Order: sequence, then C-alpha cells, then structure tokens
Amino acid sequence: MKALKGTYDLLPGEVEKWQYLEDRLRRIFRLYGYSEIRTPIIEELALFKRSVGESTDIVQKEMYSFSDRGEREICLRPEATASVVRAYLEANLAAKEKLSRLFYFGPMFRAEKPQKGRNRQFHQAGVEVIGAKSEFLDAEVIGLLADVLTGLGIVKHRIKLNSLGCRDDREKYCRELRAAVEQRRDRFCEDCRRRADANVLRILDCKNGECRREMEKLPVIGESICPGCRDYRDKVLRLLDAGGIRYELDPLLVRGLDYYTSVVFEVTSPDLGAQDALGAGGRYDNLVEELGGTAAGAAGFALGLERLILAMDERGVWNDPISGFERFRKDAGLDVFLVKAGTGGGEIVSKLLSEARAAGIAIQTDFDPQSSFKAQMRQANKLGVKLVGILGEDEIREDTISLKNMASGEQRKIPRREFAAAINKELSSPTC
Ligand code: HAM
Repeated sequence: MKALKGTYDLLPGEVEKWQYLEDRLRRIFRLYGYSEIRTPIIEELALFKRSVGESTDIVQKEMYSFSDRGEREICLRPEATASVVRAYLEANLAAKEKLSRLFYFGPMFRAEKPQKGRNRQFHQAGVEVIGAKSEFLDAEVIGLLADVLTGLGIVKHRIKLNSLGCRDDREKYCRELRAAVEQRRDRFCEDCRRRADANVLRILDCKNGECRREMEKLPVIGESICPGCRDYRDKVLRLLDAGGIRYELDPLLVRGLDYYTSVVFEVTSPDLGAQDALGAGGRYDNLVEELGGTAAGAAGFALGLERLILAMDERGVWNDPISGFERFRKDAGLDVFLVKAGTGGGEIVSKLLSEARAAGIAIQTDFDPQSSFKAQMRQANKLGVKLVGILGEDEIREDTISLKNMASGEQRKIPRREFAAAINKELSSPTC
C-alpha cells in the first residue's frame, strides 16, 4: 500500500522543519494579537459552493465531496476562510468582540494534478480579521504577511496587489468582459465558453495558452474600478509605503475564489518554479452577509506551508545560524541517552529514567542487552543528544553515574541521586 497520489508522509527528520515553521508563525501571529481557531476538516458542501463559488475551478473540479451515511453532502475543506466565517457566525463572535483576529493551521484538500509545490492534501497557515472594513486592516494583514516571509528568511519574494472593486464594479466589469469575450468567442476553449455564460470572471483563471493570449486583449479589472474603490486602494498603498512594505501593482491579478472584493494580493517566490504562489489573500466584505450574518468587513490571507518549506530549502534557511533551526531541533529532540555497560543494573536504569523524566528531561536508552558500549555511544551520537549518562560496572558498585557532555567531551562522575539535578544544571549551561 502507498500513500495516495498528491499526499505524503512527514517523517522524523523532515517534520522538525514543520514544527519550526509552525512555531515561528505562531510567534508572529501572537505579536499581532491574533488568536487561534480550529475548525473541522469536513464541512457541508454547500458552504464552499456559496462562498468559493459554484463556477470556480475549486468547486467544479477539485473538491473531495461525498454523501455521508445520512445522505448529507459533505466535503473535505479546500480552504479555510469559508469555515472560519461559518464558525464566526455560529459562535456569534460579533457579539463578543468588535473585531475578530483569527489564525489557523491545517490541511486542505484539492484534487489538482500533483506536481512540485502542488499537492492534493496540502497545508495552510492563514489569518482572518473579521468585523470591519478599514484600510489599516488591509495594511495590517499585508504587513503581517511580509513580516512572516522576512522572519522566515524568504527575503526574495514579490507581493502583487490589485483591487477588484465593489459589487457594482464587478457587475460592470463582468458585463464589459462578457461583451469582449463574445466578440471572439470561438478563440476561447470550451471551458471558457461555458465560463462566459456562468461566471465570466473565471475566464481569467484559464491556463490554456491560446486563451491566455486572447486575455491580453480583454479589459483589465484593476483599471475599471470606481473612484471610491480606487481611493480605498490608494489609502492602503500609502500605508504600505509608510510601513516600508514593498509591493507591485498588478491590474491583471484576479483571485480564483469568488468571495473577494476590493484589495487582493498574492505573494510569489522566484525560487519555486511553476507553482510560485507562496500565499494569497484579500478583502471579502460580502461573505459574512452571504453566509447569513450581518454585513461586516473582512480580510485575510493563507500561506501554503509546503511552498514555504520549499522556499526555505532553496534559501538554505536550515543551515543558517541566524534562523536558529539547529538550536530548535536540538531543543525539540532528546537531551540525554543513557548508556549501560555490562550486565545487570536494569532496575537502576528504570529508576534513573523515571526520575529524569519527572524532572522534565527527555531521555532514552537502548534496552538491548547485546548492545555493546561502542554501539550505544554511536546511537547517542546519531541521536544528537547533548549529554550521555554512563552506567558501567564501577558506577553500579559505587552508587554513581558518569555524565558526558557531548559538545565538550568532558566526563565526570557524580553521586547517582544527583543525576536529574546535575543534568538540568548542565543543560542550562552554555556548553550544552
Ligand atoms: P488560495 O490562493 O486558494 O487562497 O490558497 C492560498 C495558498 O495555498 C496558495 O498561494 C498556495 O501557496 C497554497 N496552495 C493552494 N493550493 C495548493 C495545492 N494544491 N498544493 C499546495 N499548496 C497549495 C485561499 O485558500 C484563501 N482561503 C486565502 C484567504 C484567506 N483569503 C482570505 N483569507
């Protein structure tokens, strides 16, 4: 049996990178005062049809949906914004706080063609700020995104930004777009022709080379928004300028999900190849109302964690002392390996292990009686422990234990009852 296509296992050795990444992200989210939310992986299919949009690629082609035993239409979430808004409404968070600043981590599912940086089960970290429309909040989430990337050492990235305008702008633009497409309808692929009738904006997501060439002749959304939306976008831009956040205006940027309005953005990395979007987001001021709540402004973004890891691999972040990854990995791993030479002393080992663990020390031993002293030391080295406790025949006889600092090579004998205290002291010393 093998893992399903487009899914993968994260094994020890690799998983530490993910733990490090999540740890760093949590720290940055905390700096901005965001709180974590966890929503279910399965949701009603209708939630995504209504929010992401019936005619989007995600809903049309990429959903993992099924009928459950009660004949309910369920799907594995393809993204989390809709779920967060659903949870926000269900818990009536609006009554509890003026503004909800939320973050999340988790797996998402899209039945796309797998390739580098594109998986069927992938992971996102995202933030959503729900409850107001204010240019300060757009600037806040974009600033947070830039901080995340710089903080992770992904210094080479590009933030592209556009405004999709308000509902009226969208309707006007869709009319113009439809008229323009109609004029050269036969040059577009079958999918696009269908999109022209169902949801013309989605033509702009088409990857077909012929269609893309035709698109260059179509009107551009970012250039046809109303003065109010233009003014709002410019206020956001001024705040980004004041915060020293670098971005590029891209009037062609449209997002593949229907809920967006006003300012949208995408961040790409030159290190990633074809799937170069590290993350994306924007404002979605109509979604709260569309899902049954009182109208409330909202904005957010999500980052693809697989792609962040790829970009960090490319940047050599893991070996860079500034990243602190080596320290993180050491701290997340074992502190001590207990080596037992000779036969006997099994009860002493058991007692030492439980005393150490009770004192918060991560410790392990090889219980194999055939394992030689040399083999056990090799194992300790491989595990990258900071200290080795050695219980030889002398130590057993003398009620002592030897403690070896693996970094300095220093070894000393201590009374056995001081084992846990001595380790904790040594672990907090700079030589460890
Ligand atoms: P999205 O653009 O669909 O937006 O996805 C955000 C990020 O998730 C992408 O930029 C990419 O890094 C990653 N991603 C998407 N699909 C895949 C895949 N098949 N394999 C690997 N990574 C992938 C959203 O999901 C919105 N909910 C973002 C948002 C939050 N907007 C407002 N708030």
